[in-house]
Amino acid sequence: MTFDPSDPAALQVAAKEHLWLHFTQMSTYKSEDVPVIVRGSGPYVYDNHGKRYLDGLSGLFVSMVGHGRTELAEAASKQAAELAYFPLWSYAHPSAVQLAARIAELAPGDLNKVFFTTSGSEAVESAWKLAKAYFKHTGEPTRYKVISRDIAYHGTSMGALAITGLSAIKPDFEPLPPGGVRVPNTNFYRAPAFMSSSLADFGLWAADEIERAILREGPESVAAVFLEPVQNSGGCFPPPPGYFARVREICDRYGVLLVSDEVICAFGRLGYYFGAERYGYQPDIITFAKGVTSGYSPLGGMIVRDALMEPFRTGGATFLHGITFAGHPVSAAVALANLDVFERDNLLGNVRANEEGFRATLSKLLDLPIVGDIRGDGYFYGIELVKDKATKETFDDDESERLLRGFLSHALFEAGLVCRADDRGDPVIQLAPPLICTQQHFDEMEQILRAVLTEAWSRI
Ligand SMILES: Cc1ncc(COP(=O)(O)O)c(C=O)c1O
Repeated sequence: MTFDPSDPAALQVAAKEHLWLHFTQMSTYKSEDVPVIVRGSGPYVYDNHGKRYLDGLSGLFVSMVGHGRTELAEAASKQAAELAYFPLWSYAHPSAVQLAARIAELAPGDLNKVFFTTSGSEAVESAWKLAKAYFKHTGEPTRYKVISRDIAYHGTSMGALAITGLSAIKPDFEPLPPGGVRVPNTNFYRAPAFMSSSLADFGLWAADEIERAILREGPESVAAVFLEPVQNSGGCFPPPPGYFARVREICDRYGVLLVSDEVICAFGRLGYYFGAERYGYQPDIITFAKGVTSGYSPLGGMIVRDALMEPFRTGGATFLHGITFAGHPVSAAVALANLDVFERDNLLGNVRANEEGFRATLSKLLDLPIVGDIRGDGYFYGIELVKDKATKETFDDDESERLLRGFLSHALFEAGLVCRADDRGDPVIQLAPPLICTQQHFDEMEQILRAVLTEAWSRI
């Protein structure tokens, strides 16, 4: 099918006929146009009718340095002209070496070994495979299970999906690899009644639930615990004080690896290169993707403590795992240029200087009857919507469907804000703007959200 991509009508026909959108109920687009984004500049993107939107989600938690950075495009072009591709299977290329060394330098403690992938799911999958293989090679071959939290999203490949705690997205793909075990998350707003009076006590209880799960499953069967620094799915659950210190203790006590899944939280989202740094804990593995290149080219990976590579550094053992495009030269070169921008423009400093302003601006929305809770850290926030603020009563499935899919997602986009209306847990709106944003952008978000949420409330 040939068509003129600058003709919006022709583009719609071709999109509807041929492009399968991810996690999308395609029937929606029988009667509606597929939104088509054609370019970006700073924190804004533009559709093919020329309309501007504030990118309040950094695409999908990706565009840290914002859109339209020509230096990143130039880095990609230069690398492609010099060496477009060579695998990391038995070979190296300078961009991957430089990037691995630079990431190792930035990562906390002895996280010094970098294994690249092309995506976050592959990073999570690789971390689970490494955990299993490591224990096979160090005399504990029965350790294979993974513990993760309720509602947490860790990716879509079969292994990552088994770690994911969203039960609704699994049944179509059962049976999944065995070994995924769930524990409570750190949603204090929805803490069980017996734990709802003290955030610190709640955090320790939630951490201790990991120990109870390890004991229940049998410590000799548990390989790793996968946790995000701030859990995304469910609407931004930061760790309560003391949570990660207790989790680290528990992992050490039972010889279980702690994997910090930082596919969203690494590279500035929380004002630090790594979320583990912000909350002061030492993981055994960090998984990353998204922000490492700000999306100018795909890349992911895991950063691994020295000790975990030992069995594969000496003797005949090999980590029998690899991905053709992992650590792609173009992506590695782009990541290096991306980190240069982080340094030159002091993006971490920008987040740290402005995060209180972001929180304060979003918190103004708490005067609306539909806004139950605002939570998050850095440039990463969730707004939980409720039917009754006093009782925290949430919407039933029907209302949630009508409110989120039927009205809010569309209305927020129409009003010029890209964000995410999500009901994989209780209904939330999520915001994760590019790290270049300042007060004027927070005000713009607040104004759009206020108008649309007020309208939503009148429709309930
Ligand atoms: C914490 C976490 N892990 C893993 C993934 C999967 O990443 P990808 O979509 O790049 O496969 C995501 C994606 O959003 C994520 O948020």
